[in-house]
Amino acid sequence: MKVNFNLNNKKVSIDVDPMKRLLDILREDFGLLGTKEGCGEGECGACTVLMDGKPVTSCLVNACHLEGKTILTVEAIAKEPIGKLLIDCFDETNAVQCGFCFPGFLVSSYYFLISDGEQNLDKIKEALSGNICRCTGYQKIFESVMLACKKKQLYSHRFSLIHPVR
Ligand code: FES
Ligand code: FES
Repeated sequence: MKVNFNLNNKKVSIDVDPMKRLLDILREDFGLLGTKEGCGEGECGACTVLMDGKPVTSCLVNACHLEGKTILTVEAIAKEPIGKLLIDCFDETNAVQCGFCFPGFLVSSYYFLISDGEQNLDKIKEALSGNICRCTGYQKIFESVMLACKKKQLYSHRFSLIHPVR
């Protein structure tokens, strides 16, 4: 089937098996390798992207659900001012632990910052509860998102022109 959707702020069109997973479409058809596969069952959050502005696990979204949708992947988020702020904070707190879980954590953290952004540990834990690290732990990640919330508030004038993700 032919599917038209918006991918990282560009209109795209693809002829694809209706059941092909968005995760595979991103990686195989568009070469967007930042989105990772962990569990493949919607449990780990490694494959998180934003669909119509909300986090979804791309391993559970099929091509037949994509028509007219807006998808934002970690590649686009990393170029947004809030995405860059988060990456800086992850760096500063040494929270980048591995390439498998990090993209998903970044997407979920980005969504938290644009949708709420309160420097509140419980809220951050809740926002990242769908992202699993199987090895190192969450403390540094929570610290980095707390720091990003603080910096976003401190320098809010720099982020005031950002358009919310639709
Ligand atoms: S790979 Fe999609 S949630 Fe784990
Ligand atoms: S799974 Fe990535 S650091 Fe643990």
